Amino acid sequence: MQYVSTRTGEPGPGFCDILLEGLAPDGGLYVPEVYPRLTPETLATWRRTLAADGYAGLAFEVLRLFADDIPADDLRAICERAYASGAFSTPDVVTVTQVDEELYLGHLSNGPTAAFKDMAMQLLGELFDYELGRRHADLNVLGATSGDTGSSAEYAMIGKHNVRVFMLTPAGRMTPFQQAQMFGLDEPNIINIAIDGVFDDCQDLVKAINADAGFKAEHRLGAVNSINFARLVAQVVYYVALWLRVTTRDDQRVSFCVPTGNFGNICAGHIAREMGLPIETLVLATNENNVLDEFFRTGVYRVRSSSETLATSSPSMDISKASNFERFIFDLMGRDADVVADLFGRRLDVDGYFDLSTTPEFAGLRERFGFESGTSSHTDRVAMIRELWSSAEILIDPHTADGVQVAQAFVQVGVPMLVLETALPVKFAETITEAVGLVPEVPERFVGLLDRPRHVIDLPNEIGPLKALIRDRDIQA
Ligand SMILES: Cc1ncc(COP(=O)(O)O)c(C=O)c1O
Repeated sequence: MQYVSTRTGEPGPGFCDILLEGLAPDGGLYVPEVYPRLTPETLATWRRTLAADGYAGLAFEVLRLFADDIPADDLRAICERAYASGAFSTPDVVTVTQVDEELYLGHLSNGPTAAFKDMAMQLLGELFDYELGRRHADLNVLGATSGDTGSSAEYAMIGKHNVRVFMLTPAGRMTPFQQAQMFGLDEPNIINIAIDGVFDDCQDLVKAINADAGFKAEHRLGAVNSINFARLVAQVVYYVALWLRVTTRDDQRVSFCVPTGNFGNICAGHIAREMGLPIETLVLATNENNVLDEFFRTGVYRVRSSSETLATSSPSMDISKASNFERFIFDLMGRDADVVADLFGRRLDVDGYFDLSTTPEFAGLRERFGFESGTSSHTDRVAMIRELWSSAEILIDPHTADGVQVAQAFVQVGVPMLVLETALPVKFAETITEAVGLVPEVPERFVGLLDRPRHVIDLPNEIGPLKALIRDRDIQA
């Protein structure tokens, strides 16, 4: 399998190269040259695989379609280390709760940091370890987090001697639990950095540093953000697993509703649908930072500035520039790399927006790609958390509440609607208390977390001091 950049379209590197490279040199994102196609027969086989070999077995089957440069036995062992070695609180890894006749929750937060990011990050840690070992190389990982990616990446990289993590966080914008999860780590290969800005500023710094090809090569910079395609493949696995868990027939259609900020999670759903997984509708749910909902309703993608990005009660989705969206636009525009290079490499920078409202591609979007979208407010989320708690004693976090709220409008009779649960309520205790008047239970594995000493470096929102820090603390320094 070869991968192409969304901005040149030329067939290029294989899976293990893009695993370590992150962003393409032209500033685009890597996607497979073609998406592998699933048939009903493949799905029938995978149904048996999941039953017999568990989640790790299914992950191997999906991954081998994308990572044909890793020998099968090695890949199987990587999947087993990621998903069958006890890092997840249930051997099923992902589980499902039926809420009512059509509505289901797909639980993706059974990993070590209680957020769906663990689903991909646990695999990424193993893939890095394997590939760097094979190349006798090391890597400085530079990432940005709105709260969950950071801790998930750091927990996945603990003890990996060939990786050092530099993780940018928006100072003061994460919940106390999220901060404690990250800053409480005292590991030689983990460096937490608090940037004086919002998440998009952190993401822009990562992009700016990666755009400096000389610096990137000198310091062997890699990415763990969802710009790394390996993460998306790992996420495709749970769309398949959840689909298998709620269906009995191999052509049965299911809809998914996905709380969205960076278009990472739902991009994996888009890829699964393109591969032929029988997905009826992909419902994109945003909070008040509804740049993506606006695009799917109007055809205008208008990114917002830091000062226009609201701090909401689903903070991990307080994102106004969705770094993965370029992958979808590449597919939407018929994989025309020149168009994508113009939209993302020029027009967004110059005008701050692009408008596809009058294009035939946008007119055909819903029918061709199955997307719907909606926005929730703080009041909606609080009401939804309260309603599910009082009607079914199910406690959901505010991001999942975004999903359940937006999903309501798109439920169709006879089509299961799976809302992806993206984090556990304990991570967002304040909103839970506001909604239901109780403090969410702290799972055993997190007791004492809030009391740990903090390890974090404060930096201004400027590229210079960040580069100096990376130079100083490079894994080889
Ligand atoms: C709890 C939670 N929900 C939803 C999201 C949004 O996911 P994505 O950025 O992949 O769209 C995030 C991402 O940071 C998250 O941490």
